Amino acid sequence: MKYLLTGGAGYIGLHVALAIKNSGHDVLLADNFSNSNIDNIKHIKNVLGICLHVEVGDIRSKDFTDKLFKKYQIDAVVHLAGLKSIPESNLKPLQYFDNNISGTINLLRSMKKYSIKKIVFSSSASVYGDPEYLPIDEFHPTRVKNPYARTKLQIEDILGDLTNYDPSWNIVCLRYFNPVGGHDSGLLGDSPRGIPSNLMPYIAAVAANELPILNIYGDDYDTADGTGIRDYIHVMDLADAHLCALEFLESSAQKNFNIFNIGTGYGCSVLEVVSTFEKSTGIKIPFQIMKRRAGDSASCYADVKNAKLFLKWEAKKNLKDMCLSAWAYKKNII
Ligand code: NAD
Ligand code: WQD
Repeated sequence: MKYLLTGGAGYIGLHVALAIKNSGHDVLLADNFSNSNIDNIKHIKNVLGICLHVEVGDIRSKDFTDKLFKKYQIDAVVHLAGLKSIPESNLKPLQYFDNNISGTINLLRSMKKYSIKKIVFSSSASVYGDPEYLPIDEFHPTRVKNPYARTKLQIEDILGDLTNYDPSWNIVCLRYFNPVGGHDSGLLGDSPRGIPSNLMPYIAAVAANELPILNIYGDDYDTADGTGIRDYIHVMDLADAHLCALEFLESSAQKNFNIFNIGTGYGCSVLEVVSTFEKSTGIKIPFQIMKRRAGDSASCYADVKNAKLFLKWEAKKNLKDMCLSAWAYKKNII
């Protein structure tokens, strides 16, 4: 099989690409490098000896997406391309709507033209908004709180409608919870530009002495230690979930539009992440308690029964693995 990975040069895309390669299938990456670096692909070739073929272009360009399907024999698409910063989406909503939603519509149009109708879409737990109950299952109401989450929900709706009107499409949306960590090789991981806004890369930057202290946003939540609880998922486990989703698309699935939560099914507090990072790496992380961050929920973790039942997938790695791999990658790039 040959799979097209839009946004394949990004943090999650490269992990998915290596997992697919490792399973004996072929991948083609398509990326405009708006939030990634071609050097990662060169490092993978030099260090791991794995050659990832990439077409450089923007998924909003009809000529570009048409070319991908005309030139290559693609069996299915993993659609990861998108802008992903919630704070940035609040500042630039139209840019997010254009890039994420228009880009997806253009991609789907080319797929239809070349009769490729299987797609795995990178969605997000942010579509749920503030949890009404825990763990969050896929039937939990959706209530988006920012333009980024709006793009994910609208794309899901478009994909769902598409299968209603044309049942020959076969679509899986994966709602990722909090992806963290890096590749076993230490070669790949999350390296946001500028000051990280997510917890794990921020902790890694403090461990590397790039930032002086971790700000913990609130210790007065209704949780055991007062800090926010999230469902952190190792990016290698997340990559495997895509393999399972691609296999699911090939199987005789009863429904042609499916949504699955992808998390571990359990939540960890900010203080638990800090202490696990400290214990596993031996590095002290100084922190200070700040006021709550606007838009944050107290707790958010997934019900992952459906992923286990239908995708035959479940997370294998624990918080220690996540901390160790995040640090292994950080050490490599400082
Ligand atoms: P990332 O920014 O590292 O990767 C996204 C890739 O898409 C980048 O390489 C970027 O250059 C590319 N891209 C963006 N717009 C493009 C366009 N118009 N044309 C071509 N390429 C384009 O992000 P990531 O963390 O790897 O996330 C991948 C996907 O997963 C995104 O859709 C994101 O919204 C989703 N997601 C991520 C998280 C997370 O915490 N990382 C959580 C939930 C969902
Ligand atoms: C985790 C916890 C913070 C930074 C976001 C998106 C989500 C997904 C992943 C895309 C919270 C606390 C954080 C810091 C802290 N992305 N924190 N100090 O906000 O759960 O999820 O990224 O789809 O959709 O919403 O992740 O890593 O920012 O925060 O105390 O410097 O860590 O308050 O409790 P979040 P996060």
